[in-house]
Amino acid sequence: MGRIITFAQQKGGAGKTTVLTQLAHHWLATGVTVALVDLDPQGSLSRWASMRGDMECTASSDWKAGSDIRAAARKADLVLVDCPGNADILLRATIRDSDLVVAPAQPSMMDLWALEPVVEMARKEKTPLRVLLNRVPPTGRAAQDARDVVTADLLDEQMGNRVVFQQAFAVGKAAAELQPRSKAASEVAAIAAALDAIE
Ligand SMILES: Nc1ncnc2c1ncn2[C@@H]1O[C@H](COP(=O)(O)OP(=O)(O)O)[C@@H](O)[C@H]1O
Ligand SMILES: [Mg+2]
Repeated sequence: MGRIITFAQQKGGAGKTTVLTQLAHHWLATGVTVALVDLDPQGSLSRWASMRGDMECTASSDWKAGSDIRAAARKADLVLVDCPGNADILLRATIRDSDLVVAPAQPSMMDLWALEPVVEMARKEKTPLRVLLNRVPPTGRAAQDARDVVTADLLDEQMGNRVVFQQAFAVGKAAAELQPRSKAASEVAAIAAALDAIE
C-alpha cells in the first residue's frame, strides 16, 4: 500500500489545496508515483490535475471516499487527499485511513484556533499530524507569534506568502516548474523532506 497523506484544516483558505499541489509535483519529480483524491466538492484539485495529466485524480465523497482512497493506495506510492473545509464523519474516517495529516494554517489566531478539531481527531485516531505555517509574511512577527502559541506538532519548515504559488496553481503547475531556483521552490523541497522523515 502507498503512503496516504491527508491535507485537512477546517478553515477554508488555509492553503490545503495549494500546499498539496506543490508537494505533489515535488514528489512526482523525484520519481514517486503520486495519486490524488479530491474530497472537496469545489473540485479545485481536480481542475489543477486535469491541466497537467501526469497524476491520476479521483473526485470522491461520502461513502465512496474510503474505498477510493484505498484503491489509489494500491496503485500509487503516495496518495495525497484534499479535504473540504468541513467534513466531520468523512474527515474522521479519512484520518483513520491516513499515515499522516498535514494541517496548513496561516499565522493568525483565527487559523490557529480552527486547527483544534483536526488536531483532536488525529490524536484520537492515532494518526501523526503536522501543522504547517503557510502564507507567512516576509516581515513582521506573525510566524514567531504563531510558534509561541502552537508548540506541538509544528513543522519548522514553512511556506511564505508568494505570488508564484498562485500563478502556478492557475496554470496547473508548481512553483518549481515556473521558477526552479526560487525561494518558493526550495521551501517546498524542504517541507517535502521534513514530511519524508516522519515515520
Ligand atoms: N503560500 C501562499 N502564497 C500565496 N498565496 C497562497 C499561498 N497559499 C495559499 N494561497 C492562496 O490562498 C487562497 C486559498 O488557498 P487554498 O489552497 O485554496 O486553501 P484551501 O484549500 O485550504 O481552501 C488561494 O487563493 C491561494 O492561491
Ligand atoms: Mg481547497
